[in-house]
Amino acid sequence: KQLPPFKSRNSPPLVFHVFPFIGSTISYGMDPYKFMFDNRSKYGDVFTFILLGRRMTVALGPKGNDLILNGKLSQVSAEEAYTHLTTPVFGKDVVYDVPNSVLMEQKKFVKFGLSAENLRMYVDMIADETLKFLNRDNAFSAYQNKDPNGGDFHCFQTMSEITILTASRTLQGKEVRDGLDKSFADMYHDLDGGFTPLNFMFPNLPLPSYKRRDIAQQKMSDFYGDIVRRRRAEGSVDYDMIASLMECKYKDGRALNDREIAHIMIALLMAGQHTSSATSSWALFHLGDKPDVVEALYQEQVEKFGREDGTLNPLTLEEMRECPILNSVIKETLRLHPPIHSIMRKVISDIPVPQSLSAPSEKDSYVIPQGNFVIACPGVSAVDPLIWNDAQEFAPSRWTTQSQEQELAEKDDKGETVDYGFGAISKGTSSPYQPFGAGRHRCIGEQFAYLQLSTIIATFIREMTLETKGGVPPQDYTSMIVLPQPGSRLHYKRRT
Ligand code: HEM
Repeated sequence: KQLPPFKSRNSPPLVFHVFPFIGSTISYGMDPYKFMFDNRSKYGDVFTFILLGRRMTVALGPKGNDLILNGKLSQVSAEEAYTHLTTPVFGKDVVYDVPNSVLMEQKKFVKFGLSAENLRMYVDMIADETLKFLNRDNAFSAYQNKDPNGGDFHCFQTMSEITILTASRTLQGKEVRDGLDKSFADMYHDLDGGFTPLNFMFPNLPLPSYKRRDIAQQKMSDFYGDIVRRRRAEGSVDYDMIASLMECKYKDGRALNDREIAHIMIALLMAGQHTSSATSSWALFHLGDKPDVVEALYQEQVEKFGREDGTLNPLTLEEMRECPILNSVIKETLRLHPPIHSIMRKVISDIPVPQSLSAPSEKDSYVIPQGNFVIACPGVSAVDPLIWNDAQEFAPSRWTTQSQEQELAEKDDKGETVDYGFGAISKGTSSPYQPFGAGRHRCIGEQFAYLQLSTIIATFIREMTLETKGGVPPQDYTSMIVLPQPGSRLHYKRRT
């Protein structure tokens, strides 16, 4: 592919590389965080590198996050950066296959389906699916047999299964949950095989996995489409996302059609699955490494939910929101392991970089040229030793001490809010902590993810203690999401 025209004057510095097309692909791909920190020390917060022939400009730190995530629609485009990856997987007419104004409306529809009323109902269902899994999966036979020696499990694989079971029982609806035991699991597997960095870099390769992706997309689209048609015909009353989307209308009065509903459901499935299962895996690994935090979490459960007879009351949404240790474990996990390390946009018109980010004087400051891509990397500011004490340390207690919250609030954009159409959100796009992104493309699944993660983690902690063998595994960057190194296991013992 032809490189876009390169304007040397005022362009951000280019990372040194030997091979023109390959550029920095290998060092960025192997460890993007090391790559970012190493190059920040050489070039400053804004620099450009070559990724398989594309010019990628990085803007680091809270101000860099703000520049990109709060970028003007006339300057940056998410759809131009992502559509070749997402449209073959999600399907037509949704998310990045439509103009941004339509995506904003679609996000608003999804928000309706995530009402507090629905979320409240989901807690029991998630706890129930998690317990059923522990009582049937082979890896948990020592738990089932009350073996005092305990056993071990492949953490990410287990969390992936529990995440899809719990998301389908709640958001996705009973038909998907039933389908998981049948054909849905295979379709999901093939579709997921088309959502990889290879697909991102090379949209059309004559490989079997691309073909399987396309067949699975068609089948899955039909599967959801059939659910919508059946429900319409039967007039059934449900409390999941499909039911909510069936009620939604665009501003011009048009209702979502069956295909759009089907494709939004696929997008939500893909958006939530690996992000949540990676996060719960990292949380359990860190807990396995910190027995004192596991005990503090357990004591919190006893204090909040304990009954006089020594058993625990069922989890509820409101009470879990008032569990500071549980919430800070999730917050801290997402600080150290935000699942998405690079958030990308395509530059559609030149972006002047503010002086504070680039150069001492106005005349030396940079312009990021049209045709480049830009990358925000909130995971860098989230572990920047200039911002955080003991930045690499898993310390949930940092979130329960007043000073950290205050410090962050001061670094944030004075708490201003803005409404992109799907509800007012904090305009604090220059915060150093943004695991859910910021601005118009900010995540709308945060509340559901917190609910799902809190319920799964609390259920594990109520049932068992955890122990890592050899510490927390290293991060693996070979898929779209930052995962624990493949094969990493955790040891558990059932509580007596
Ligand atoms: C967007 C993270 C779970 C749905 C995003 C973005 C991030 C993110 C960083 C911004 C992407 C960008 O700016 O390009 C996470 C994390 C999750 C999570 C860390 C869990 C721990 C979920 C779940 C859902 C979801 C469970 C659905 C129920 C979405 C949607 C967008 C989004 C619809 C909007 C995309 C856009 O506007 O371009 N998420 N997410 N996410 N996420 Fe999540």
